Amino acid sequence: MHFNLKINALKDELNFKNDSALVKFFVDTEKLEQLVDEFFLSLNYPLGKVQKKNFMDKKSDEFAYYSQTDEPSVIYVKKIKLDKHFSSDFFRNYFAGLIPSLKRKNLKAVHVVVPSFTVLKEHFECETQFVQGILEGIHLGNYTFDHYKSEKDKAADLSFFIHYSDQKILKDAIATTGNLMSAVSFARDLVNEPAITLTPSELASRTKKELSKLGVKVSVFDKNELKKRKMNAILAVGGASDNPPCLITMHYKPTVKTKKKIALVGKGVCYDSGGLSLKPTSSMMEMKADMAGGGAVIGIMKAAAMLKLPVEIIGVVPAVENMVNGSSYKPGDIVKSASGKSIEVKDTDAEGRIILADALHYASGQKPDEIIDFATLTGAVVVALGELAAGLFTQDDRLADELLNSGKSTYERLWRMPFWNDYNSMIKSEIADVSNLGPRWGGAITAGKFLENFVDEKIPWAHIDLAGPAIKHKSNNYTEKYDTGFGVRLIVNYLSKM
Ligand code: BES
Ligand code: ZN
Ligand code: ZN
Repeated sequence: MHFNLKINALKDELNFKNDSALVKFFVDTEKLEQLVDEFFLSLNYPLGKVQKKNFMDKKSDEFAYYSQTDEPSVIYVKKIKLDKHFSSDFFRNYFAGLIPSLKRKNLKAVHVVVPSFTVLKEHFECETQFVQGILEGIHLGNYTFDHYKSEKDKAADLSFFIHYSDQKILKDAIATTGNLMSAVSFARDLVNEPAITLTPSELASRTKKELSKLGVKVSVFDKNELKKRKMNAILAVGGASDNPPCLITMHYKPTVKTKKKIALVGKGVCYDSGGLSLKPTSSMMEMKADMAGGGAVIGIMKAAAMLKLPVEIIGVVPAVENMVNGSSYKPGDIVKSASGKSIEVKDTDAEGRIILADALHYASGQKPDEIIDFATLTGAVVVALGELAAGLFTQDDRLADELLNSGKSTYERLWRMPFWNDYNSMIKSEIADVSNLGPRWGGAITAGKFLENFVDEKIPWAHIDLAGPAIKHKSNNYTEKYDTGFGVRLIVNYLSKM
């Protein structure tokens, strides 16, 4: 169940009604007991000794007071320690955890008293990012993917009242975050949707439906069109499924004059069984999410249109299912990609790089100022970085620095990997221009190096391997249940600064 959220800006003093909750933070070195005493006194609500003891959670430095009769109904007092464990993700993660816990409490409103920015300043990129983090946490905590559950609670109305001194910053952040997070939720819905429903053509039609109404032009190349354009790499990977492959292209052009045109390319493998180089069952479990790179690109297009970002964007998502039948492409095959370069297929499970070959070639042909691609490309990047960061591969230091900074501000973190040309020798083929399989070690890097073959070398390009953080993982409150939509907040931050 989720709430029908309404988020409001308030400057005035706290003014409680029945059925509401209050969230108050103290950034302090004093003992929690003392802070709680003073705060309840200021509310004209002296606490008894027993109450104080029962509601105190010293381990998490939190005091959660529940009352059946008095106003307000729930009071959360949380002490923040600015020690080495504090990060800019604190509020996002806190609210993402709080929202689900409010279910079945029959609350109508939640008042959040935002602490002063002055003391927290050094931990955030700017005041807007600080306020936005709180709002993002509320939206993320409210995300559910429960369309397939037959027993659902009815979504209840819940109003948030955010109390903050700077009304301009707060109101702007509420509007911006609302748009941004609806794009994140859209991306998450796509990634979480099982492959039985989200076929390549379904991905294309959902994209068209959602983006067309926002003024984004969406075109879909079907199998015939792919043949005409000699996109044999996409055709080879997608050839063994009853659900034919396609290439989704999107174009967002703002009305204002723009300085830059950016191409975003996303791996759209709606299901990755591995093909003839079949995966074991346990590795197939998450493979409905192998289009998370494509989902991120589609989500970014939606956010760009809703937020009216002043940058022209081309989105390119090759959508396929990597399956097995009599038409499967085979280890040993040589595929001639649209660029004219030939690919020796040594492993049909390294399919993402093959479809991206055609997609990156197509994107290069659009003559953008830069290209960024997103892909759940390798298990190797997860071995290297775990689930907390995506691998960043680029030769362009400016692009790297700016993307790394956006990663820090949004907490969708990137880690730059080596990308030396020495790795090229590892994907040489004796019989084709390039092999789709490198040696065991450094698999995420050789996968990136493979992609480099299909990008116009004059165009600055970055490759983001998000196989770790895009898929649900237990590291925090907003990634543990559902696939995450990783990349949307990151790139919208990057594009907003252009
Ligand atoms: N989709 C997988 C990569 C992946 C693994 C994504 C785990 C998310 C979680 C990709 O197509 C793949 O199978 N890669 C192979 C490449 C290998 C055959 C060179 C891998 O990483 O094992
Ligand atoms: Zn694969
Ligand atoms: Zn894959």
